[in-house]
Amino acid sequence: MSPVSGDTNRGSAQWSALGGSSPPTVKQPLRQFVMHPKKLSMIILGINAYHADSSAAIFVDGKLVAAIEEERFRRIKHWAGFPEQSVLFCLKEAGIGFENVDHFAIGRDPKAKFFRKLLYLIKNPSGSFSAVKKRMENAKKVATLENELSKISGLAPDFFKNKIRQVEHHRSHIASAFFASPFEEAACVSIDGSGDFTTTMIAIGKGNEIEVLDSVDFPHSIGIFYTAFTQLLGFPHYGDEYKVMGMAPYGEPKYIDKLEDVIYVQKNGLFSLNLKYFRKGTEGVISYGEDHLPVVQPMYSNEMIELFGPPRKREEALTQYHKDLAASVQRITEQTVFHIIESLQKRTNLENLCLAGGVAQNSVVNGKIKSHTSFRNIYIPAAGHDAGIAMGAALYVQHQLLKHERMPANLSAYTGSHFSNEEIKFLLYSQKIKFDEYEDEILFDKITDCIIKGGVVGWFTGRAEFGPRALGGRSIIADPRRTDAKEILNSKIKKRESFRPFSPSILKEYVSEYFEQTDEVPFMEKVFPIKPSKRNQIPAVTHVDGSGRLQTVDKNISPRYYQLIETFFKKTGIPILLNTSFNENEPIVNSPGDALSCYLRTEMDMLVMENILVSRK
Ligand SMILES: [Fe+2]
Repeated sequence: MSPVSGDTNRGSAQWSALGGSSPPTVKQPLRQFVMHPKKLSMIILGINAYHADSSAAIFVDGKLVAAIEEERFRRIKHWAGFPEQSVLFCLKEAGIGFENVDHFAIGRDPKAKFFRKLLYLIKNPSGSFSAVKKRMENAKKVATLENELSKISGLAPDFFKNKIRQVEHHRSHIASAFFASPFEEAACVSIDGSGDFTTTMIAIGKGNEIEVLDSVDFPHSIGIFYTAFTQLLGFPHYGDEYKVMGMAPYGEPKYIDKLEDVIYVQKNGLFSLNLKYFRKGTEGVISYGEDHLPVVQPMYSNEMIELFGPPRKREEALTQYHKDLAASVQRITEQTVFHIIESLQKRTNLENLCLAGGVAQNSVVNGKIKSHTSFRNIYIPAAGHDAGIAMGAALYVQHQLLKHERMPANLSAYTGSHFSNEEIKFLLYSQKIKFDEYEDEILFDKITDCIIKGGVVGWFTGRAEFGPRALGGRSIIADPRRTDAKEILNSKIKKRESFRPFSPSILKEYVSEYFEQTDEVPFMEKVFPIKPSKRNQIPAVTHVDGSGRLQTVDKNISPRYYQLIETFFKKTGIPILLNTSFNENEPIVNSPGDALSCYLRTEMDMLVMENILVSRK
């Protein structure tokens, strides 16, 4: 791909797509793409392995060619082994073999903070021996990555030995945001549960350099704090935190005082946990069994139970107390994150912020950053969670180590699988499923007629999304105006907790008409208040507190999805569709086979894959 040196107009277009309400100041310009003119023909394969949401991403001459999570192939949520199928997919998309890859970047460095880890283990001998052993075994696997690559490539391990680059976990998170952002200079924050013994990292990104300013060591962790309360509220599985976020608006933050004894901010702009409320030692960290599933042990201590009551049992009803506790946990998390971010703003005096890590999946926090801190412009990648580590590790090698020129900002999450009409028809013939094929205009007419009548449609087009959110590539869509849409979706397909909201996909030109903030949100990474006058027009995507987790749809990035919403707009006057992920208690569908299987298992009214329509009628 040719570089875009000197293309200053492109910079402002990207700015607009990120939602900047005013042009950037001279002090902190957007990239001009002339910083580092060194050009390289370079292939870098990024890998997140032996960690939740294992994944791979490939860059060819600086350009992202493919990125995908292994769970999409394995059909097991958060699958955490070696991402063999993702690696093979990336190579296929790039049209190359293992021998063509210059660098294998893995987003993990077992040597990071080695002495601090050792000291911690010495000080905490009561920690579970098996948990320590599991972590050490896991670290050993990373150290012998060449054997894994050798196994799937047929090449000798020695071939890979000098090509493997280990990039520390949080540096990978930060790289996934900063090097993919449109910013020449930005403050950077990574916050998650824990990775390479770090839970939070702050840095400055400038050109091709990330300079780490400070970090917080395990076990002081906002991620662990949030997970402990998620467990206490009766949601024990890895990745359940979003349920607490969804429940929070049903409660009042009545327990902030109590929580201020559990987590507190520090004068250095960071925070600490009161460890007496958490299980001691290395117990409670995430471990991975033979099945490569992340398992989270209870993280709360008896002191936490004494203060907040016993953990809710799964079959136990959610009471107002649980909702108030969820609201309190969400509120103090917001306060803590804003403290970190605002302190960093004061320290750096920068206007641009790049944010990544599992806690950056908290779209309610993200939606309030602009109104609660001094940052003016924010970039959060589509895969801010651990799958994004594959992309971040590769970007770190590409820019920080190899000094490759910066590339245009990454504003598209569509980097996964894709299938042609012919491939889809072949599948349907083989399964003896009747179908019709239509041109877009007629097809979009039929789809919108179906949802206006209360139908639910599986929508499968283009490349699958990288990251946890369906963004109109693999989505289930419905009419956002229907007061009964939630019930319809829950009865026909999702069968999920009633307090979890569905999301609005909105044509980007109409955001200011419906939302109280006018930023664009390409990756559904922020929640904004919906204007009170509009809430009753789109009840199916309005949360109980009047907010919506929006996706702004750009004609240039998602042309078919845009056109579909536009067809609905012409018929109804509403430039919005209800969008929820195309799945049913499983990873988001990846292939036409997955989509067909989900359609047949559920009561979806219509399945649309590219130009092919399958209907129950
Ligand atoms: Fe992480």
